[in-house]
Amino acid sequence: MTEKELCQKAIEMLDRAYIPYSHFPVGAALECADGTVFTGCNIENASYTPTICAERTAIFKAVSEGYRDFKRIVIAGRSEDYCVPCGVCRQVMQEFAPDLEVICLNGKGEAKHFTLRELLPYGFDSSWL
Ligand code: THU
Repeated sequence: MTEKELCQKAIEMLDRAYIPYSHFPVGAALECADGTVFTGCNIENASYTPTICAERTAIFKAVSEGYRDFKRIVIAGRSEDYCVPCGVCRQVMQEFAPDLEVICLNGKGEAKHFTLRELLPYGFDSSWL
């Protein structure tokens, strides 16, 4: 899949976001090493803390379906700023894909490219245990 197509999948997920509290939609599209794509959106909760981010929805969908080898993830928002992943999502990405490519989109669909290593230096993994 081209980067443009993967971005489009993340953007399409913005409409699936369940966001009655923040009104801040996020969509994600995760590409696995074999080309399989899992999508996700943020899903909020009246009790707030059970809220899950779009990136983790996509990653947990993938892992629960037997996929653990990830190449890149697109994160889409509707803001002026690029939608960067929160710290918890960075840590979850680190668990499965320390070399993940992270593509963040703003509301115009413009992209900013990062590596997870840039976003999470000295990330905690099993080697620290
Ligand atoms: N959110 C994500 O989905 N991904 C992030 O990495 C940043 C935050 C969601 C969680 C919540 O539903 C809303 O954005 C506002 O924080």
